[in-house]
Amino acid sequence: MKNKNILLTGISRGLGFAIAQKLLAENYSVFGVSRKSSDKLEDLQQKYSGRLFILHTDLAGPEEARHAVFDEFLSLDTPLYGFVNNAATAYDDIVTNLQIGPLEEMYRVNVFTPMLLTKYAIRNMLLHNIQGSIVHISSVSAHTGYKGLAMYASTKGALEAFSKNTAREWGAKGIRSNCVVPGFMETDMSSELTEEQRRKIYKRTSLKKATEIASVVETVAFLLSEKSSSITGQIIAVDSGTI
Ligand SMILES: NC(=O)c1ccc[n+]([C@@H]2O[C@H](COP(=O)([O-])OP(=O)(O)OC[C@H]3O[C@@H](n4cnc5c(N)ncnc54)[C@H](OP(=O)(O)O)[C@@H]3O)[C@@H](O)[C@H]2O)c1
Repeated sequence: MKNKNILLTGISRGLGFAIAQKLLAENYSVFGVSRKSSDKLEDLQQKYSGRLFILHTDLAGPEEARHAVFDEFLSLDTPLYGFVNNAATAYDDIVTNLQIGPLEEMYRVNVFTPMLLTKYAIRNMLLHNIQGSIVHISSVSAHTGYKGLAMYASTKGALEAFSKNTAREWGAKGIRSNCVVPGFMETDMSSELTEEQRRKIYKRTSLKKATEIASVVETVAFLLSEKSSSITGQIIAVDSGTI
């Protein structure tokens, strides 16, 4: 049997890079998207040449990104088994400082482009009669609330509602859609937090520590696999037990 193809956004670093490593080790073919490359991504490409394909494009332009991904990178001849919507950007500020420009840009990256890519991912799955799996990466902030994250958290809330309704709409065709909700992970996205901010975040977790990237990666891989064939429309927290 041929390797299953997965579209993964945000592959260059952080959680996305770790998901790519896991999926490649599990024999998937990975079609990864990010704006930039990285040394470790280039090393991974050498290790898995023939199974790892990279597109550098900016997801802030939904139509341009859709064209680059589905017309040029991953044509309709390539059957798609899974889509992991992982890329995101965070516009952090208190609500009274909200500016519409950065808010719109964040919504394009975190919500509008992922919705458009989901549309074409599902069309591809239908064309090839594939019972595929879609996984969106959400955030604990959509559930618990953190000062300064209201705008960012709202993009994740939108994704969760979109995923649940996608699951309902396409379940009869065997296409599944789920969200994984990580807690605070040590990545570039969270690198600017102060020690005091980290201490406060850990204090709100049952395990009193950051969420391990490996634990999130395992959950994503499980949701892509047939082991989770009866799981759809779910919102699964991997957050060190945040309260
Ligand atoms: N870190 C946390 O504590 C945390 C907690 C909860 C949820 N999450 C979620 O987990 C996911 C991964 O986060 P992370 O911490 O791994 O983030 P990260 O280290 O900042 O990496 C983000 C990835 O998204 C890509 N990306 C960002 N903007 C893009 C754009 N406009 N076009 C194309 N690619 C873009 C980046 O690639 P380029 O810069 O090369 O384009 C990078 O590969 C995100 O959905 C995030 O919201 C993170």
